[in-house]
Amino acid sequence: MQVKIFDTTLRDGEQSPGAAMNVAEKLRIAQQLEKLNVDVIEAGFPCSSEGDFEAVRSIAKTVRRTHVAALARTNRKDIKRAWEAVKFAKFPTIHTFIATSDIHLKYKLHKTRGEVLNEAVKGVRYAKTLCEDVEFSPEDATRSDIDFLCQVLSKVIEVGVTTINIPDTVGYAIPSEFGHLIQTLRERVRGIEKVTLSVHCHDDLGLGVANSLIAIQNGARQIECTINGIGERAGNASLEEIVMAINTRRDLFPFHTRINTEHLYMTSRLVSKITGMPVQPNKAVVGSNAFSHESGIHQDGILKEKLTYEIMTPESVGIPKTSLVLGKLSGRHAFKERLKELGYRLTEEDLKIAFNRFKLLADKKRDIFDEDIESIVVEEILRMPKHYKLVYLNVISGNVTVPTATVRMEVDGRFIQEAGFGDGPVDATFKTIKKITRTKSKLLQFAINAITSGTEAQGEVTVKIEEKGQTVIGQGADTDVIVASAKAYINALNKMEFKKQKLVGL
Ligand code: KIV
Ligand code: ZN
Repeated sequence: MQVKIFDTTLRDGEQSPGAAMNVAEKLRIAQQLEKLNVDVIEAGFPCSSEGDFEAVRSIAKTVRRTHVAALARTNRKDIKRAWEAVKFAKFPTIHTFIATSDIHLKYKLHKTRGEVLNEAVKGVRYAKTLCEDVEFSPEDATRSDIDFLCQVLSKVIEVGVTTINIPDTVGYAIPSEFGHLIQTLRERVRGIEKVTLSVHCHDDLGLGVANSLIAIQNGARQIECTINGIGERAGNASLEEIVMAINTRRDLFPFHTRINTEHLYMTSRLVSKITGMPVQPNKAVVGSNAFSHESGIHQDGILKEKLTYEIMTPESVGIPKTSLVLGKLSGRHAFKERLKELGYRLTEEDLKIAFNRFKLLADKKRDIFDEDIESIVVEEILRMPKHYKLVYLNVISGNVTVPTATVRMEVDGRFIQEAGFGDGPVDATFKTIKKITRTKSKLLQFAINAITSGTEAQGEVTVKIEEKGQTVIGQGADTDVIVASAKAYINALNKMEFKKQKLVGL
């Protein structure tokens, strides 16, 4: 029996603090999700911003094998907008939601239970006039009154909903309790056997995956989750962990998913690169330590028989044995082929840009790894800066001079040059960029990682900035860490601009 995987990386995942993505970035992730073979891609919340609308529309037009869902509140305007964006999909879904807990009714919606019931029914009825496939979510289901929850769900089924999704919106449920809730709904909601029963678990108590798994054991047949578990606050249940738990423990889960697990690692890396959210080394399934054995006893065991300490293989999730691929003498053809193997199909124009950057990098760095190629594509092709672009950077630093940066940038087509001092070379660079862009954001975090091993490796800088309560994460890579820092900072400023266009959140 199949368990469907509904991926919401591009919608709930994008609600992670700092993880705003542009249309090209979302489209690239959607194509990777299609390759991974998820059943549904929730592409966005079209009413929330022009950018989200565009992203859903272009994903709907591009993705051909997978269902594409658009989120909407139950009001007519949201649903109409969701449909306008998603109607181009081969398999479109409207996902509509309204909160059902008394806490949300009283403090957020200021509505009575009767009004919410009415709106839910009206919303689903309207969505059904536009789209055959309609999913309904009672937001904050796990803190809702069970009788009211059953009443709402029975009514929306009556008017034709095709999927009922039970969100643990605030990650409050404990597995035994959540399993019991799913069982109770199956017993008490009229017509529930006619629809797909789905769950959507947040990770505030670190139980998102556990709750999703117990839900499957109690009759859920669709799981909503995200790559790397990114999402609102502490995130959502992690796709790769759920899929590998089902695959690894077939004794307890007599089910299958359609996921091509050997694409999990690449998908995780891509999402991390694009969102700027690093994957922690000890992250289950896709973390860099997930398959390394450190202690002597463990290494000895593994050498004797892998089964001693390995419950799944690195190959099964697509972790490559070695990623050394190209060098200075590699030509355009080899570069293009490697890009194809990594899943990137670039236009001739983009290929030219990426290849030029590859050549520049190969002049500075002997071995070019897959990680370097990915970072070239993300920086040069997907991360197209709109407002701010670095043209030139010169930094003077040392222990007997005041660190000074001269920066030239293109701001909306105009070239501006400035110089400035700072406590160190990065500080001088950031202060000068701030002067040029006239931005007021505060730097919250700054981290440098080497993309690959060796002293000639590219440094990857991640910064987190904040402005008027909004946070964004930016990334930049270069063999020179000061240039990487400038790129990361400018990337964050561009994301902040993009985020300002957002009109409403959940
Ligand atoms: O967490 C939640 O309740 C949601 C719904 C919109 C499904 O994301
Ligand atoms: Zn959610």
